Amino acid sequence: MATPESLSSALQALGLSNIPQVPEATTFPVYNQFDIYRSHIAELLEPITGAPAKIILPALQWTAVLDHGDLVLPVPALRLKGKKPDQIALEIQEKFPESPLVQPPQAEKAFVRFFFKPDSLTRLVLPSILKSKDKYGFNPNLGLKDPSDSKSGKKKMIVEFSSPNIAKPFHAGHLRSTIIGGFLANIYENAGWDVTRMNYLGDWGKQYGVLGVGFERFGDEEKLKESPIGHLYDVYVKVSAISRDQGEKIKEVQAEIKELQGKNEPVTEKETELGRLQNESVDEEARRYFKRMVDGDEAAVGTWKRFRDLSIVKYKQTYARLNIAYDDYSGESQVLDESMDAAARIMAEKKVSEESEGAIVVDLAKYQKKLGKALVRKKDGTSLYLTRDIGAARERLDKYHFDKMIYVVASQQDLHLAQLFKILELMGGEYAEVSKRCQHINFGMVLGMSTRKGTAKFLDDILRDVGDKMHEVMRSNADKYAQVENPDQVADILGISAVMVQDMSGKRINNYEFDLNRMTSFEGDTGPYLQYAHARLCSIARRAGLTAEELEGADWSLLNEKHAVDVVRSLAQWPDVFANTLKTQEPVTVLTYLFKMTHLLSSSYEQLSVVRAEGEVKKARGALYECARQVLHNGMRVLGLSPVDRM
Ligand code: ARG
Repeated sequence: MATPESLSSALQALGLSNIPQVPEATTFPVYNQFDIYRSHIAELLEPITGAPAKIILPALQWTAVLDHGDLVLPVPALRLKGKKPDQIALEIQEKFPESPLVQPPQAEKAFVRFFFKPDSLTRLVLPSILKSKDKYGFNPNLGLKDPSDSKSGKKKMIVEFSSPNIAKPFHAGHLRSTIIGGFLANIYENAGWDVTRMNYLGDWGKQYGVLGVGFERFGDEEKLKESPIGHLYDVYVKVSAISRDQGEKIKEVQAEIKELQGKNEPVTEKETELGRLQNESVDEEARRYFKRMVDGDEAAVGTWKRFRDLSIVKYKQTYARLNIAYDDYSGESQVLDESMDAAARIMAEKKVSEESEGAIVVDLAKYQKKLGKALVRKKDGTSLYLTRDIGAARERLDKYHFDKMIYVVASQQDLHLAQLFKILELMGGEYAEVSKRCQHINFGMVLGMSTRKGTAKFLDDILRDVGDKMHEVMRSNADKYAQVENPDQVADILGISAVMVQDMSGKRINNYEFDLNRMTSFEGDTGPYLQYAHARLCSIARRAGLTAEELEGADWSLLNEKHAVDVVRSLAQWPDVFANTLKTQEPVTVLTYLFKMTHLLSSSYEQLSVVRAEGEVKKARGALYECARQVLHNGMRVLGLSPVDRM
């Protein structure tokens, strides 16, 4: 890790006696070199403009392209009275003193552009990357209760994500929740938050009675152990089909009764038949089965628990392929009756809820029309999805004392979560506190998520199909393919990267088309392209064969070509990109950066060859590429990808 001491001496060598630091501004010069430049520029601009440095500092913005500078100051952001912004910009250009860190600024209308001195940037950034390694860019202070006080303790975060339903297909909504939630947990963890990864399984309700009944008829112990998720789904499909047929039969008889009644003919016989059909139906059996589960009947609960446990074992294996491990497999079944009863009492006492035809509802339309009326208790007294979420939220506060909780759920459930948060708010006290700390991270749909083997139903199938396709793409280059030691494994990882990168390539809220051909291509901004960029940097390092000491001892002044300088400028942005990602909460913030950076790299390889270079130049370039590899690696990791060394 870089330290304040190493930073001080690096700055001294450049001719600066202190680490620039603006009073009352929270900056992290050791973690983020951009902070050094921002503070330095703000300090120099204070006497010129008369604006306080702490106002200037946050006004300094990034540029979209390197040709526009490293930082740009929109003068109106300083809110200075009197002079015109264009005039102030010119004054800044004239009066800006000679600096060891920045070149003379350029005024352009109401903007002032700042370019860092390349030599200073290279000497500050590259050694820091080499020292910090897989921590470079991450800032563990951001998640502290007080970011400026390293002893203030970490804030606690729950990220609830994926949350599939047992015995039901793992659909696109779960896939996106898994990818986005995994990413969010990673960024907060790397920002120093204490993160709990939670999976809230759909594992309760009458449909689990249906499953229990189905298993009595179609269940197979061997198959259950071998592939619990697939088998339970099969059982569920079979028993649901029966229940559907029975439902139709019941409707027919009901219609017949109506007809007879119309004709004033006797219906007793038909009514007996109807009663028998209803009583013997899977639905009724399932209701009784679920009732046994609710009442804690050992056999029913035992079976259900086995379904749940075996499914979790399988889920764990699949999530591991995506580099995800949960701290808590909670679920709808785990919400205690006490929590729901306590919540019901408060809702009634505070007149948040009311009775309506034997059921209990919360009329939220009074507060916001689109929130409508929410049912929190059915006529028969049973709880609902929403009721369980209310109880669960409160239990999580008591168990984890979280400062923030994120629900990563598809935008189809916007209303559900808005109702949940509003009800918690209305309940007041601790519940309202929970509501304040909650955030719904939503996302759009995946269109046409079918693979070559039909519409995919389980995560494993999706990943396997994309892996197969990737293997095919790899085979099309026979020479390269021959060099890959473990093609199956590489194809698998590349396939996973393809799926994940495609998912993260747009803003979360946008829908996207599941396009197998595009996502597995090495051309364009795809997962395989990023992996290729990483493998290429690894190969450069292997061929250069430089030791860590040689890299760290490189002569930075030799990296003076425009291509080299631009790569360094791009690498220097990574800590800011990371910090900004915490604000946008969008994986595309990281991806866009990584693609820009890798494009820049690929256009430098010709000019900045390592193998063809010798001596000190070789070392310096080797160090530059090693730093680029590290940043790419860190970015890929935070996205949840597994960077490959060869492919
Ligand atoms: N199991 C739910 C579904 O598949 C998602 C759960 C979302 N989380 C929550 N706390 N409601 O639709």
